[in-house]
Amino acid sequence: MSEVRYRSVKKAVFPVAGLGTRFLPATKDVPKEMMTLIDRPLIHHGVDEAVASGCTQIMFVTGQGKESIRRYFEPSEELVAALRERGKDDLAEKVDGIHKLAEFHYAYQQKPLGLGHAVLCAEEFCKGEFFGLILPDDVMAAKPTVLRQLEAVAEKYDSSVLCVEKVAESEVSRYGIVAAEEVEEGVYRVKGLVEKPRPADAPSNLAIMGRYLLSPSIFGCLKRIKRGAGGEYQLTDALSLLLEEEPLYALLYNGSRLDCGVKEGWIKATVVKALEDPKLRKIVIKAVKESGALL
Ligand code: UTP
Repeated sequence: MSEVRYRSVKKAVFPVAGLGTRFLPATKDVPKEMMTLIDRPLIHHGVDEAVASGCTQIMFVTGQGKESIRRYFEPSEELVAALRERGKDDLAEKVDGIHKLAEFHYAYQQKPLGLGHAVLCAEEFCKGEFFGLILPDDVMAAKPTVLRQLEAVAEKYDSSVLCVEKVAESEVSRYGIVAAEEVEEGVYRVKGLVEKPRPADAPSNLAIMGRYLLSPSIFGCLKRIKRGAGGEYQLTDALSLLLEEEPLYALLYNGSRLDCGVKEGWIKATVVKALEDPKLRKIVIKAVKESGALL
């Protein structure tokens, strides 16, 4: 059992070293995380959420071809000066605000050997503290933020907490699925985990989504796992080991999720986000009507 007790999280880890194969050829030269969702790269949406959750230090686990993520979060003095010279002070403020969002740190994953392997690369940064883990593919709309909701459970049970959603039976093979016992409304004590099961083998329909609040004991577990599903080092396998050492809880979060890990989800996210903006809303509705799609 870990000696480290839960304290409010200030550190968030973003593993962003994956190949993004489901978006090829778009991701051949542009990281998926840098593709634009409405007005900002996908990763900026995730960072905004971490900051809104009280995180002040952010670690990106990057890999080959992901240099533009680092550049995006670095100061851009020349661009800011050029914008000011042109009287575009609003834009200059916006651009200059990006590197001030948090303190940014970087680790390098030599090869994309899996999510578990990527998280292990952040061990030094987390230095024995609880931390938030954010997979930017899942864009969450929730108040309070999902990380804040997980914190409330972590505080109460002094444990790691996973974020779960109920999915259709046909969908379970896309996710990590938990076997769990409900201890209060929407809060589950996890009893077991299985990565991408066949529907017949799934212990429930509670699927793990891209937000975690993890105890530092996870790093010892990550060091002990072997390659799992898909030949990759799976975080789910390390969570199964964590379960042997510490209690683990899951929260059915309050809010909604846009799955930007697949093309269909990205298109939906673009439409949903556009409909939230009064100006863009009109444009989307007009375009759909004019295309004759609704006739
Ligand atoms: P995914 O399983 O969605 O993989 O990773 P991916 O590479 O992003 O996309 P596809 O499946 O090839 O289309 C979940 C998260 O874990 C990161 C990814 O960058 C993503 O944020 N990841 C995955 C790593 O950082 N390293 C890895 O080795 C694998």
